[in-house]
Amino acid sequence: MEKILITGGAGFIGSHVAKRFVNTYPQYHIYNLDALTYAGNLENLREIERAPNYTFIKGDITQADQVSQLFTQHDFKGVIHLAAESHVDRSITNPSAFVMTNVIGTVNLLNAAKAAWQDDLAAHLFYHISTDEVYGSLHQPEDFFVETTPYDPQSPYSASKASSDHFVRAYHNTYGLPIVISNCSNNYGPYQFPEKLIPLFINNIRHQKPLPVYGKGENVRDWLYVVDHAQAIDTVFHKGKVGETYNIGGFNEWKNIDLVKLLCKVTDQQLGQPVGTAEQLITFVKDRAGHDLRYAIDAKKIMNELGWQPSLQFEEGLQKTVEWYLANGDWLDHITTGAYQKYYEQQYERR
Ligand code: NAD
Ligand code: DAU
Repeated sequence: MEKILITGGAGFIGSHVAKRFVNTYPQYHIYNLDALTYAGNLENLREIERAPNYTFIKGDITQADQVSQLFTQHDFKGVIHLAAESHVDRSITNPSAFVMTNVIGTVNLLNAAKAAWQDDLAAHLFYHISTDEVYGSLHQPEDFFVETTPYDPQSPYSASKASSDHFVRAYHNTYGLPIVISNCSNNYGPYQFPEKLIPLFINNIRHQKPLPVYGKGENVRDWLYVVDHAQAIDTVFHKGKVGETYNIGGFNEWKNIDLVKLLCKVTDQQLGQPVGTAEQLITFVKDRAGHDLRYAIDAKKIMNELGWQPSLQFEEGLQKTVEWYLANGDWLDHITTGAYQKYYEQQYERR
């Protein structure tokens, strides 16, 4: 079995990617390296935790020794690197944590891969998962982010991701490390930590709490169902050209306030309450500092060159997402009570 290292597999996107790889590729053994920060939740991975081709490793990518040791112990054929601090608001209050994990952590992985793979670089692949936020903010309606759009990060989060992207490319150019990078738009779907817009608002509607819309709600985001992102990651990992970048998105832009109103309507309908009930919870609050106005991905390269297409229309994806959170209130409650953080000691430490 070929060994593949996924970092950040107990988070939102990483858990979807880990499940997809474990279930689709019995010829791979998937190692999931995750520090289990507040964003890591092993409950996301219940369905594969006992699979014969899956191993969880609790470890921190900021610790260079731990990372190198892991690469010495296992001959990983490929790395899919998703571990990161991912929330923009947290990056505004604590930028250093973003430098440590997103920049230093990525460099630690690059150093370990370079040392372990030096005799046969071509047989390996380092796949770095990045974000559209590295390109900055769009202001003209006709503009889209393409792979050659110059980087112009505006938040500490996007600055740290941009920096990590530059290091990944630098290791390719300087040392010949085989790399590929993808930059995706906003993801939504099951298992997203309820600090991000969609799960936070669904959870607040469950508890009749205010829905804090930043500024006037005029910022635009481009939304992609997380399962489609996981499929795109699978496609890039297997078919992407070494040294290339692929933008991933579904050509699906929404102004925040329009999305929130649609989310309220769908949630009202699924809760069986009169449409208009949840909308009354909308509260306009102080804007996020440095709030990027608009993101929009041009995903034609991955569509044309690698044949990837999103499978779901947004309205269908949003219905499924609301349905999932309402049916999995326990998953949300375990996060808000902190119970999810005991899962590791309950299920793993005694094994
Ligand atoms: P997430 O916050 O849900 O999960 C991040 C995971 O990384 C968690 O399990 C956490 O425990 C782990 N982690 C954090 N610091 C670590 C460290 N020092 N060592 C080991 N593990 C650590 O994030 P997500 O939303 O799933 O995003 C995953 C990746 O995709 C990130 O790199 C992010 O930048 C990128 N991305 C996210 C989106 C999105 O909309 N969520 C869009 C495009 C790209
Ligand atoms: O574009 C990809 C990025 O999308 C990823 O790289 C990030 O990891 C991910 O967190 C996401 O960043 P955003 O800042 O766009 O996502 P968030 O869910 O935090 O916010 C979405 C929009 O909603 C944004 O314009 C801010 C706004 N918002 C968010 C929250 C949490 C609100 O109006 N109120 C809120 O309470």
